[in-house]
Amino acid sequence: MCGIVGYLGNKPATPILIQGLKRLEYRGYDSAGIALYEAGGIQVVKRSGKVRALEEVLQSQAFTATVGMAHTRWATHGAPTDENAHPHVNGDGTTALIHNGIVENYQVLKHQLQKKGITFRTETDSEVLVHLISDLFRSEQLSFSEAVRIALQKVIGAYGIVVMNASQPDQLVAARMGSPLVLGIGEGEYYLGSDASPIVDHTRNVIYLDDGEMVVLTSDGYEIKKIADNQAVVPTVTELTWSVEEIEKGHFPHFMLKEIHDQQQTIVDTMRGRLDLEAGTAHLGGIQDCLPRIEQASRFYITACGTSWHAGLIGKYLLEELAGIPVHVEYASEFRYRRTILDSDTVVIAISQSGETADTLAAVRKAKEEGALTMGICNVVGSSIARETHCGIYTHAGPEIGVASTKAFTAQVTVLSMLALMMGRHNHLSLAEGRRIAGAMQSLGDMTRKILSNSDPIEQVARENALAEHFLYLGRGLNFPVALEGALKLKEISYIHAEGYPAAEMKHGPIALIDVKMPVVFIAPHDSTYEKILSNIQEVKSRKGRTIILTDRITSDLKELGDYLIEIPTTHRNIFPILAVIPLQLLAYYLAVLRGCNVDQPRNLAKSVTVE
Ligand code: G6P
Repeated sequence: MCGIVGYLGNKPATPILIQGLKRLEYRGYDSAGIALYEAGGIQVVKRSGKVRALEEVLQSQAFTATVGMAHTRWATHGAPTDENAHPHVNGDGTTALIHNGIVENYQVLKHQLQKKGITFRTETDSEVLVHLISDLFRSEQLSFSEAVRIALQKVIGAYGIVVMNASQPDQLVAARMGSPLVLGIGEGEYYLGSDASPIVDHTRNVIYLDDGEMVVLTSDGYEIKKIADNQAVVPTVTELTWSVEEIEKGHFPHFMLKEIHDQQQTIVDTMRGRLDLEAGTAHLGGIQDCLPRIEQASRFYITACGTSWHAGLIGKYLLEELAGIPVHVEYASEFRYRRTILDSDTVVIAISQSGETADTLAAVRKAKEEGALTMGICNVVGSSIARETHCGIYTHAGPEIGVASTKAFTAQVTVLSMLALMMGRHNHLSLAEGRRIAGAMQSLGDMTRKILSNSDPIEQVARENALAEHFLYLGRGLNFPVALEGALKLKEISYIHAEGYPAAEMKHGPIALIDVKMPVVFIAPHDSTYEKILSNIQEVKSRKGRTIILTDRITSDLKELGDYLIEIPTTHRNIFPILAVIPLQLLAYYLAVLRGCNVDQPRNLAKSVTVE
């Protein structure tokens, strides 16, 4: 995600800030910027592209400032342009701000500020924060840090921010709510970072700010207080023992494992400001303008590649079940070259983490040429597919570094669940059912956390099956695509041959493969297909296959049949796939590690396939 670095001390700030930004590059970003107290005011320089581009511009300016802040942006609202890069400044350039996170109520706040005559220059949600703070500072006779504190009380969403004001050239104000912020304490100097990686070269004494806390830094010292009531906080200084590499991976040995764990937050980020519990629906701003056509469409196509295609298959089941719309799901590589029946009543949804996959992009172009309305579900803001589709919904999962997609998949399914919920409520889905689904989605973050904190049974399955050369994954209904995705994860990173099937199809072929050496993973929640899948488990058991059962409740029948049982929380059946895939990601991960594979960069695979 975006990166923050701040410095207040007596050394030239620019090289420290640039070095800090370089340390943060691993997080992924598409633009960078810096703000310095310089020559009696605030100087801001920002550029789309790499930190190197920003550095080159700065080399021609002889800045001497010793206080400043810098940011790497990974676009969420608005394309990765110079203008949308941080820092953002208020109208007269006296206040500057950098922000990580998402302001959920930015449209309401923006509207209020525009009514007061304030002009916005960017498409970002973050810009609203700088105007909100500077407006309060100007009109309410408050100290600057107090204006920051009061302004933040009006903000709904997640933020890690650093703010500067030209009237306080010896001060940085930083605050945190849901987006990490670390304060580094040096000898008469202070550092700020969105993680410790830009700080670790300078000091190992750090304070991790908690949610709802802010810090006011001056050369005289620092003061930490609560945003809600201004109460002083007694800080705990921690000694950093992590290496830079450990910090980058968040102490996880691989990016893939980190990204699997990120899901407790990213799934929540995907829904942030979109889910409406009261009305049992979702509001998806990026498709608002196209809603009349979407609502009247007679059929949908979903097109994608790889993991994104599996998300699309879940989307089909959801849209057909909740909204009653016919949906065809097609690999983009097939869609682009065959005769498809498209017209102005068709919506073509293209799903792509990168937004750059060549086949998916070609499918979008074809769909447009043939008159369909195109919708993108992309993770990378401003990517080709995001730009070329008529409308779209961003997944907000943050940069995904591991080649095997994990958090992008659950974010895609979360978006599709919201889309199906919204379309369903527009069609015939009852308010009560809409509320049940929205309510269940609201709990996804906590449930994901529970699954991740109970990974021992999954590790045990991996340990005891690490020598298997084949795996079979079986599921029914919505969990059939989960079986496909589980099998794909295993193939991609452990090189074990794996296949996913609808459980009942087992009889038509795969059953011939089953013997004592064949582990079979069943996705078996207690829903309307439970009895059927139970028979499939029995069939495998009676042929001496090894049964690994993933369920939402370990019942006595499963105890009898399962060689291994993995329990995850019970939830609404329509959103169960979002949870069910997580143990399968972990299983693939543990097996790959045990077999000594390069988890983050598996052989022959690319993160983004931009050639046909
Ligand atoms: C590659 C990646 C997969 C990904 C697929 C589609 O094969 O290795 O993880 O699912 O491309 O990528 P996209 O960016 O379009 O989702």
